[in-house]
Amino acid sequence: MNNNFPRFDLQGQIALVTGAARGIGNACALALSHAGADIALGLRDVNTGGELVSKIEAMGRRALPLQMDVTRLDEIKNAIDATVSHFGRLDILVNNAGISGLSLIDDIDDSKWYDIINTNLNGLYLVTKSVLKHMPDQAGGRIINISSVLGKFGVPGYAAYCTTKHGMIGFTRALALEVASRGITVNTICPGWVDTEMASLGINETAAHLGIMPEQFKAQAVDAVPIKRFLEADEIAEFVCYIASDAARGITGQAMNICGGQTMV
Ligand code: NAI
Repeated sequence: MNNNFPRFDLQGQIALVTGAARGIGNACALALSHAGADIALGLRDVNTGGELVSKIEAMGRRALPLQMDVTRLDEIKNAIDATVSHFGRLDILVNNAGISGLSLIDDIDDSKWYDIINTNLNGLYLVTKSVLKHMPDQAGGRIINISSVLGKFGVPGYAAYCTTKHGMIGFTRALALEVASRGITVNTICPGWVDTEMASLGINETAAHLGIMPEQFKAQAVDAVPIKRFLEADEIAEFVCYIASDAARGITGQAMNICGGQTMV
């Protein structure tokens, strides 16, 4: 029995969060810095990070805003090089950046399919591969991927998004085995509905597709969640902190739901 509590302390750790500008990524960056980590902020547009940097610095932590579109290998490499030269190391990666949207199989335009696959899967691969080159061995490295409950079940009209979110789980399981000997864990978190701009866009888009009002679709969506509410981004971020911490050192290759009971597999 090890009595060295608390083990959730992330002081001295360096975390990179992709898609940190808003929503779940923003909440993860704040929660990780609250737990003691310094944060590299991966941003699709580096000019969107100012307020977040101020909040992190107000907690006494360091924050480095980075231009980092996860579909662009040049930006990924520059951002990760900048992180390592600024902080000297990289311990935690939160692969959060993602896009969603309807992608019907009879769409004439295939661009939605390619955009979603490119961002959510190729982006995940490119960022993770680049980060792993710099993550030290036997130092408790953490790769934390934000998938979705749509990585566990399908939704009509969302084949592209569901493909990527299921794919993230496969990536997690295989990579966890590949890097286990380096003392690095790889896990996926699968949120249900979280109250963010992505959820609002999804509600509006699906309601329009079904020919109903957004409020009506949202009520149906809430009703399908056993706890009868959407989650807050903070609830995902707090779990990310736990997985990032030493307390979770025995957890790897898992796909864990935070979904108010919406799915149990
Ligand atoms: P959001 O749309 O509010 O934020 C997404 C963030 O990703 C934004 O900051 C955006 O700039 C960034 N991003 C998008 N494409 C990017 C790119 N090419 N390069 C760099 N950054 C990029 O979405 P939200 O809700 O915060 O989602 C975050 C993650 O959580 C996503 O992976 C999403 O699929 C997942 N998720 C969200 C759920 C929800 O209900 N909101 C439910 C389950 C999973």
